[in-house]
Amino acid sequence: MNNNINNNKNTGDNYQQQIINYLNQFLSNIVALTIKMYNYHWNIVGPHFFTLHSKFEEYYKKSTDMFDIIAERIKQLDGFPITTISGFSSNIGLREAESKNYTANEVIRSTIGDFKYIHRMGSDIASYAASIGDGVTSGLIGNFLQYLEKQLWMLEASIK
Ligand SMILES: [Fe+2]
Repeated sequence: MNNNINNNKNTGDNYQQQIINYLNQFLSNIVALTIKMYNYHWNIVGPHFFTLHSKFEEYYKKSTDMFDIIAERIKQLDGFPITTISGFSSNIGLREAESKNYTANEVIRSTIGDFKYIHRMGSDIASYAASIGDGVTSGLIGNFLQYLEKQLWMLEASIK
């Protein structure tokens, strides 16, 4: 498990509490990602505006879906998903972006970095869940990882 997951929140060998904490960290970073995708949806400028405006709409919808899926998984595990801005804020590792004009190259490169960050964190949690026999959690995250990998391939191809 790498540094993307904050191990300080572990409570001994209580798997349920550990996975809930990891999922809440993931949830918080998905909130940050969603807002960033809105930012680029609104603030993209230049000749690729229409394509990227639509693409980032797809991305914030996908991450909003994931937000609900992760929160509901936390409920199934008898936990409480974070619901406060301050709670999310203390868990966010994803770099935030100010509201200003962005070129196509800027938003694509930034999103590649963000998707890789989220992918790494998701992979760590999915591996942890699988190692402990929680195939449902690892499967839910795995579906999202598949989506991210496909988008990473396309985003990288678009700037070659
Ligand atoms: Fe919109």
